[in-house]
Amino acid sequence: MGDLEAASAALLRHPYGIFLVGSRAGDRLNLMTANWGTQCSFEPKLYTVFIERDAYTRRLIDDGGVFSISLLPADSEDVVSHFTKPAEVVGNKLGEYEYFPGPETGAPVYAGAVAWFECRVVEKRETGDHVQYVGEVVNGGVPSGEPAWTLQELGWDYGG
Ligand SMILES: Cc1cc2nc3c(=O)[nH]c(=O)nc-3n(C[C@H](O)[C@H](O)[C@H](O)COP(=O)(O)O)c2cc1C
Repeated sequence: MGDLEAASAALLRHPYGIFLVGSRAGDRLNLMTANWGTQCSFEPKLYTVFIERDAYTRRLIDDGGVFSISLLPADSEDVVSHFTKPAEVVGNKLGEYEYFPGPETGAPVYAGAVAWFECRVVEKRETGDHVQYVGEVVNGGVPSGEPAWTLQELGWDYGG
């Protein structure tokens, strides 16, 4: 083995976005803070996201076969914190924040997203302590001209 401490430090320098993963199985809904996600094919349009094995979101994606991605505006630290644990559905809110159902999948989309898209799962594999989902992107929207926020701007760590 080489220097895994330095490798961890290097992994922590990797730039990421910061977003919410929406999931739905029947009437169970959730939004979850994440940064391990990327587009991974043009044609078909595919997106991949990595979800903790024990997360509630993982159970909902397994059962529902769909997910959404909501990109966050700057200074959304309160939203990022809020969605690190399962959120309760109250009317048109998840916890304290308004959402709308993705028109194609029903996966919840954060109403304050600067951009969002929704996916149907086409592949799944275990990747260590996370589960990788690959979804076909079937719909999306750009409700705001604001730029999407990044993990580096937030200044928190998830990686290493
Ligand atoms: C900045 C940040 C980034 C995160 N990125 C991910 C991620 O990419 N994948 C993931 O499964 N959990 C990530 N988490 C942890 C989840 O938000 C959450 O705590 C955990 O997965 C449990 O999800 P649940 O609410 O669905 O049970 C991140 C947390 C923070 C604070």
